Amino acid sequence: MSFTIAIDGPAGAGKSTVARLAAKKLQFIYVDTGAMYRAIALGLLRGSTDIEDAQALAGALSQIEVSIRYLDGAQHVYLNGEDVSGLIRTEQVSDMTSRSSAKPEVRAKLTSLQRDLAARENVLMDGRDIGTMILPNADLKIFLTASVATRAQRRFLELTEKGESCSLEEIAGDIAERDYRDEHREIAPLRQAEDAVLLDTSDMTIEEVVERILILARERM
Ligand code: DC
Repeated sequence: MSFTIAIDGPAGAGKSTVARLAAKKLQFIYVDTGAMYRAIALGLLRGSTDIEDAQALAGALSQIEVSIRYLDGAQHVYLNGEDVSGLIRTEQVSDMTSRSSAKPEVRAKLTSLQRDLAARENVLMDGRDIGTMILPNADLKIFLTASVATRAQRRFLELTEKGESCSLEEIAGDIAERDYRDEHREIAPLRQAEDAVLLDTSDMTIEEVVERILILARERM
């Protein structure tokens, strides 16, 4: 039997950073489910698919195949065999992902892929609906969050360090808008599972969050 850890929470709460570090310490496979949704969104953007047209969406999805592979311990995501890991972190892809991941057809495409991975290996999986929908029996569930102001500040620093000009207010506005969409969509909305441990990382360092996750995991192993 594999041991499964589900980490859910809104964008920018630091999920992927802490999940990657915690998985490494635990020697678990880190599964970034957001990257899978992003790869589908990239495929939809490339095909200029009108995702509000159900037939067009179904047609486009039938031509999209997403898979993941691990190279030197890092997850790579493939769109029809092409490694698109480096192409899925743009604002354009983020926006399309937030909209397309609300479509049941898109979610259905990834559910079995994610469940199969968790059945085979010890995984630490992060996303929005892992504890509520994908792995309702996960051994440990964590809901990781932080205030909009903190998340906007972190994203602002990330972008300015990359030399990109941006406005803090705009980033905060985008984050609030995406939270709203993720939390209010009809299917698999972002919400804390009843048995999830809530971790507000607004005033915690990355190391503190990782340490807390390791303690919680070891208590249950
Ligand atoms: O975690 P991320 O920022 O890479 O996620 C990108 C988008 O995908 C975000 O709008 C929410 C969506 N997503 C989802 O609906 N379900 C998941 N399990 C993971 C991500």
